Amino acid sequence: MPWNPDRYHKFQSQRTAPFNDLLGLVNVRPGLKVVDLGCGTGELTRRLADALPDSDVLGLDKSPHMLERAADYARAGLRFELGDLASLPASWDLIFSNAALQWSPDHPALVSNLFAQLDPGGQMAVQVPSNHTHVSHRLIIETAQEEPFRSALDGWVRRSPVLSIEAYAQLFYDLGAENILVFEKIYPHVLPDAEAVLEWVSGTALIPYFERLGDLKDNFLAALRGKLHSALPSSPVFYPFRRILFSVRNPA
Ligand SMILES: C[S@@+](CC[C@H](N)C(=O)[O-])C[C@H]1O[C@@H](n2cnc3c(N)ncnc32)[C@H](O)[C@@H]1O
Repeated sequence: MPWNPDRYHKFQSQRTAPFNDLLGLVNVRPGLKVVDLGCGTGELTRRLADALPDSDVLGLDKSPHMLERAADYARAGLRFELGDLASLPASWDLIFSNAALQWSPDHPALVSNLFAQLDPGGQMAVQVPSNHTHVSHRLIIETAQEEPFRSALDGWVRRSPVLSIEAYAQLFYDLGAENILVFEKIYPHVLPDAEAVLEWVSGTALIPYFERLGDLKDNFLAALRGKLHSALPSSPVFYPFRRILFSVRNPA
């Protein structure tokens, strides 16, 4: 996917709050072998590594564009590699992932496979957006189902693979996990106007649409812009952003 680090970073301060919450769930011990799945541009991976004394941290991402920036944050005990989180090899003391697993399908299989890569006593700590019921996402799907976009996309729309908090909790119980903690939280962002919401989704949710729309990308944005401004006419705009955080432990 054509991730754009500059566009993604436009809302970096808002995106840091869930990372801080996730970091707060990590059981800090010295000498951990850690992977940060979907590490992006690496500065948050650096914060993770700096918080874990004597750790050996790998930042993994499948976007070369994002990883180009990450190289600046590498140091002894922190490296970055190109790779797909869906085929993570064993074995880890901490599998960490902030805002990345939502890009991979089939969460029951994905999460089970990741849990299986933990060493005994290892921890998995993950944050995923669960904002797919927000009007911005509903309008993206509505626009994608209108012509000429429907034909250009061959009827395709992106549905979030993110599960309910109950489903994640059940999944981890069935896997034999310990210390199961799963919760959903609203991050109460205030953005200048609907245009800012459009910019936000342009840096994330719209990426797979842009990839498929080719020359129709600007027409799609114009159509969505009109709908978003009608749906969110106020200035500033309150943008309540739902996210799921979970932390579990593999029994020792
Ligand atoms: C929303 S960004 C989050 C980046 C970083 N974790 C942060 O919190 O700022 C999502 C990242 O996940 C990466 N990603 C998406 N699917 C992936 C996959 N299957 N394997 C590895 N990385 C993936 C993207 O390339 C992107 O850099």
